[in-house]
Amino acid sequence: MKERILVTGSYGQIGTELTLQLRQIHGANNVIATDITPAPEALEQTGPTRYLDVTDPRQVTALVVENKITTIYHLAAILSGNGELNPQQCWNVNMNGLYNILETARRWKVRQVITPSSIAAFGPDTPKEHTPIDTILRPTTMYGITKVAGELLNEYYNQKYGVDARSLRFPGIVSHETEPGGGTTDYAVDVYVKAVAGEPYDCFVTENTTLPFLYMPDALNALLELAAADESKLIHRTFNITGFSASAGEIANSVKARIPSFECRFIPDFRQIIAESWPRSIDDQDARQEWGWKPSFNLDAMSDDMISKLKEKNGAVA
Ligand code: SER
Repeated sequence: MKERILVTGSYGQIGTELTLQLRQIHGANNVIATDITPAPEALEQTGPTRYLDVTDPRQVTALVVENKITTIYHLAAILSGNGELNPQQCWNVNMNGLYNILETARRWKVRQVITPSSIAAFGPDTPKEHTPIDTILRPTTMYGITKVAGELLNEYYNQKYGVDARSLRFPGIVSHETEPGGGTTDYAVDVYVKAVAGEPYDCFVTENTTLPFLYMPDALNALLELAAADESKLIHRTFNITGFSASAGEIANSVKARIPSFECRFIPDFRQIIAESWPRSIDDQDARQEWGWKPSFNLDAMSDDMISKLKEKNGAVA
C-alpha cells in the first residue's frame, strides 16, 4: 500500500532527519513536513512543507484529509527543560496536540500513529538501574506527566478504536544535524558542538550525572523498525529503548580523548534535579524480543562519528 505520511514537529532535532529518511523510503511527495516555524532549506527543497499548529484540531484534520494521510509521526512537543519554564504551554502542546492527532486518526481512519515517549515518564521513585518497561511511573516534571498520560491515551485509542498507535520511550538523543530544543539531555549534544568549535563548555549537570543515551542513526532505525513491526507480535504499545549509559564526565572525557584541548566545567542549573529524577540505565529487552531492536552505537563509536560529522559541517560553512 502506498503510504502518505505526515510528520509533525518536522523541523526539530528528530523530525529533520526522520523526514529526510522517510522521503528516501516512501518518495519525497508522500512525506509532508509540518511545524510552526519557517522550514529549513533541507526540507523545503526536498518535498512538501506546511504550517501546522497541532493544538488546532481544524488544522490537523484539514491537513490529514486533504493529503489522504495514512501514517503520522507525531513529534511536535515541548521538552523537559522548556516544559518546566512554561508548564501550561507544555501541557497544551503535548496533550492537546496528541489528542488532536489521535482523534483525527480515529475519525479519518489514519492507519498508524507513531509518537515518542521518553525516559521522562519515569520519576524519582522508579528503580534507577536497568529500569524495566512496567514499573513505577510517577514523574515530577510536566513533560513527564504529559508523556505518561500520552502513553495511556495511545493505548486507549488502540484498544477502543483500533488506531495502530505505537510509542518509544527515548533516552537522551545525540545528533549533529539539528540542535535539540530545550531538553535536559541537550548537554550531551552541546558538548560536541562546543568542542569542535574550539570553545570550552559549561555543562549544566554535574560530572557524575548518568543517563541513558541513543545516537540519532539508532533512534531513526528504532522509529522505522517499530513502525514496520508485525502487529501480531506486539505485546506492548510503548517500548523502552536505549543505546548506552554514560555520565556527563564520561561523555566529556570521550570528547577530550579526541580533542585534547577541550575544556569542560560542570555548573549545574535547574535541570540537575530533572536529570536526577530519571533512570541511569534502561532495560529494553521487550523491544529486542518483540520487534528485534538492537542499537549499533556505543559512546566511543558515537564520539567518533559526531566529531567527524561536525567537522565536515563546520568545514562546509567556513
Ligand atoms: N531529551 C528529552 C529531554 O531532555 C528527554 O525526553 O527533555
